[in-house]
Amino acid sequence: MRRPIIRPLPAALALASAVALTPLAAQAPAAADSVIIGGAAVRSSEIPWVVALSSRDRFGGTRAGQFCGGVVVAPTQVLTAAHCLSREVLGATVSEVRDLRVIAGREDLRGSGGREIPVRRVRLAPGYDPATSSADLAVLTLGAALPARHAIATARRGDEAYRPGTPATVYGWGDTTGIGTYASTLHAARVQVQPDSVCARAYPGSVTGSRYQPATMMCAGDARGGHDACQGDSGGPLVARGRLIGIVSWGSGCGRADSPGVYTRVGEVLPTVAGRR
Ligand code: ARG
Repeated sequence: MRRPIIRPLPAALALASAVALTPLAAQAPAAADSVIIGGAAVRSSEIPWVVALSSRDRFGGTRAGQFCGGVVVAPTQVLTAAHCLSREVLGATVSEVRDLRVIAGREDLRGSGGREIPVRRVRLAPGYDPATSSADLAVLTLGAALPARHAIATARRGDEAYRPGTPATVYGWGDTTGIGTYASTLHAARVQVQPDSVCARAYPGSVTGSRYQPATMMCAGDARGGHDACQGDSGGPLVARGRLIGIVSWGSGCGRADSPGVYTRVGEVLPTVAGRR
């Protein structure tokens, strides 16, 4: 089975092992009207629970080393995607990355506002499987506390926010075009929670793609395409009814009508990470 599309930012290409990466040409371009894809810039001060994951050592300094997103769920606890901490993305093991930080409250990655806080500890969901992307969740413990009011509530198993059709918003500093145009300000796109049947049909796990697994995944998008997360948004939040329901994990291309974005199902996977408080 092929791995999900995990493409580090261009600055990282020279550092990461090139063979493991999905070549640019292998991805179909996003719809022409796609511009996160189909989103709009938002002020990060108004979304205080979204943080950027950064390593200038691995990804260079132009965009403050941003390579994934993260979500504040408690003063010293940030959720992200487990695959963001893989050797495939980092080009090194996570313990070798000495400057792994979260950046909170920064409007523009090219500026110096907000705070940079070192990551003290990394815990992966015990069921995380890099081959299938199941349980794609990691809990980061920060070296300093953020204000408690910056944290967002997390959805529980069976939360009504998982109901198909529920409007949701995804946030990130990732690609806004599907062809490698990385944002320097936070973007947000509106999507809808999709039924498992739609996700399973989109990702049956044929030779050309990964398989949708409803036990640890959920998917969201819009029927006409054009609104989605994209490369660089991984680890960032999908929020519905004021609660965190998903973490950006994978997808085929970006913003395609027939390929909704796949997210870690937070309500199922977060409780499996032991001692997370
Ligand atoms: N794996 C990507 C990352 O590492 C996220 C891809 C999400 N794709 C999508 N079409 N929703 O940034």
